[in-house]
Amino acid sequence: MDPAMAAKIKQAVVNNFEQSPDTYQAFEEEFGFFDALTTELIRPMSLPGKARVLDVGCGSGASIEPLLRAFPDGQIWGLDISPAMLKKAQDRYIDEDRVKLILGDAAQLTKYVDTGFDAVLYTASIFLIPDYLLSLEEAHSLLKDGGVAAATFIDGIYDQSDRNALAQADESAQTGINFKKAVVSDELKAAMKARFTLFEMRTVDFTCSVSMLKAFYSIPAQSAGLYPKLDYPTRLAMINRIFSLLSGEGLAFRWHILAGLK
Ligand SMILES: C[S@@+](CC[C@H](N)C(=O)[O-])C[C@H]1O[C@@H](n2cnc3c(N)ncnc32)[C@H](O)[C@@H]1O
Repeated sequence: MDPAMAAKIKQAVVNNFEQSPDTYQAFEEEFGFFDALTTELIRPMSLPGKARVLDVGCGSGASIEPLLRAFPDGQIWGLDISPAMLKKAQDRYIDEDRVKLILGDAAQLTKYVDTGFDAVLYTASIFLIPDYLLSLEEAHSLLKDGGVAAATFIDGIYDQSDRNALAQADESAQTGINFKKAVVSDELKAAMKARFTLFEMRTVDFTCSVSMLKAFYSIPAQSAGLYPKLDYPTRLAMINRIFSLLSGEGLAFRWHILAGLK
């Protein structure tokens, strides 16, 4: 992607997350979803308890919590580009010596931290980083030999017949959901495969209620992913319409997990 376009997308991402911290935190307090997602991301990893981990796009710190649990003697560096999201994490970890927080851009990781990481993780963030190729290069150079780079990548909502539920609902309601993403999963997969060894990608379906999914997509930044050209009140109205068409408790919220070793 050309750098001017990447800068434009990045600025839009920052603006969207600057409006999101309170709604994001309220969502996470009610549903614990990002904690569960990060727990799933690190589940197969056999890292030492004293691992040094970089959480790229740590946001309000929801993804830091499971890292502190998994690595009881570890050090976690959380980096985020949105001052308002990072402020939530700063308030949360003000007394936690094991957490270091950095305001910064994922494309310039080596500017902020020293090398020697056991893991560089992108917890629900890589699909928001238009220059993710630069970021992966940086992550590679920060890792120890044998260190792991891993990311969670959002796919969508699927019904019990494995149909894309948002696409189906949008066909009836005609709200104009934008299904195009700044980062394409196949391209990300190829890029990680080229840079890391023992690469693997797996798919995880989280069974979620309609109300949980509606709350997720009602976070300002998430709603902007569906309707990038609309203002927030109009996006919320569209989300109400779309989610009133979904029913049942058995919807699958599908994410991909990509991981490889240096
Ligand atoms: C969906 S949130 C995930 C937050 C956290 N990891 C969690 O699991 O709750 C994505 C985060 O990535 C951050 N982000 C997006 N682009 C970034 C970039 N280029 N550099 C650093 N952080 C970025 C956003 O500001 C936001 O806080």
